[in-house]
Amino acid sequence: MADIQITNGVTSVGVLNPNMRVFDIVMPTEYGSSYNSYLVEGERSAALIETVHLDFFDEYLENLRRAIDLNKIEYLVMNHNEPDHSGSVERLAGLLPNLKIVVSQAGSLYLKNITNRSDLNLIIAKDGESLDLGGKTLRFISAPFLHWPDSMFTWLPEEKVLFSCDFLGAHFCEPTMLDTHLPERYRDGYFSAMVGYYGAIFGPFKPYVRKGLEKIQGLDIQYAATSHGPVLTKGGMLEKVMDYYRETSQPVVHEQPLIPVFYTSAYHNTEKLALAIARGIKEVLPHAEVTAYDLVYADPAETARLINECDGCMIGSPTINRDAVPPIWALLSHVDAVNFAKRPVGLFGSYGWSGEGVPNLRARLEGLKARLMPEDFRVVFVPTEADLEKARAFGRSFAEQIKG
Ligand code: FEO
Repeated sequence: MADIQITNGVTSVGVLNPNMRVFDIVMPTEYGSSYNSYLVEGERSAALIETVHLDFFDEYLENLRRAIDLNKIEYLVMNHNEPDHSGSVERLAGLLPNLKIVVSQAGSLYLKNITNRSDLNLIIAKDGESLDLGGKTLRFISAPFLHWPDSMFTWLPEEKVLFSCDFLGAHFCEPTMLDTHLPERYRDGYFSAMVGYYGAIFGPFKPYVRKGLEKIQGLDIQYAATSHGPVLTKGGMLEKVMDYYRETSQPVVHEQPLIPVFYTSAYHNTEKLALAIARGIKEVLPHAEVTAYDLVYADPAETARLINECDGCMIGSPTINRDAVPPIWALLSHVDAVNFAKRPVGLFGSYGWSGEGVPNLRARLEGLKARLMPEDFRVVFVPTEADLEKARAFGRSFAEQIKG
């Protein structure tokens, strides 16, 4: 990507990755992405904001050399140190031995272990501290857990640019680096990429999103120079994206308890238990929203949302190959581990031989610190009428626990 001037003294020097289709192993990236880095030039000094993924270092270096004499770069500001941003720090520091690297306290620890260097010239940035480049001021705003403990924003008041790193970003490759140049036909795609990114990266950290928004609400931001996707501009996509962050970071309040029953069932046996349990829950909480979801057919995005927003849930699996079945594990892979602790969960399932499925789920949910029912409900092969009565009682008991 050619260097692109964003505003006076701010140049985009990052790299595009239009062909990326998966980020961090688990995140689909239909529209590719970009590893953004910015050069800020003052009258006395110059600073880089973040670096790029190590795989793109050579291209990054070409961009830098086109933009500036490397020896004029005095500072590197690392708002966040996940390797998609910090991957090139070690190589860059090798080329520029006098480079001063500005990081948060937590970031300094991560960076030492990511670069495996203890001799980096680190400057710890505290909340509100500034760096004067000569007519360009970098002010550091602590923003922990957006989305790592090390996260901070950097504000450039003279140009009204907020360097927000992952915050407000999106995995979307826009070669011009400006949201105002997004072709109309790609605007919906950009927005869906931003929504997916928000959900995956910031969904678990909504209280911190609210705090982050509070910290920047007094700033007259003209440009949000994120570290993935196009720079957001005032009058362009910036307000829309910030509104989305504001709305979706509010706590979810249910008028009635939301208690989904997730299950899979090869021969309808676990399914019969699921339906009986659901009936039992409704007997105690008649107004609760209780729906049984067969995970083979249910929308994975919807069940992922439900398990994270529910007031409690039931999870049922048969046992195949001495384990719970893949759709159940897939659901649990979407659990927001940060916020799931103490969530009421009951486990059930039919099995034929040794029945390890439910105990294996218990072990995983204990790891997630769920508030598990003291006993699981398991039946060998086909549940009898008496078993189904017990399943209803199990549902009632679970509902009592939620009712408090
Ligand atoms: Fe783009 Fe959290 O790294």
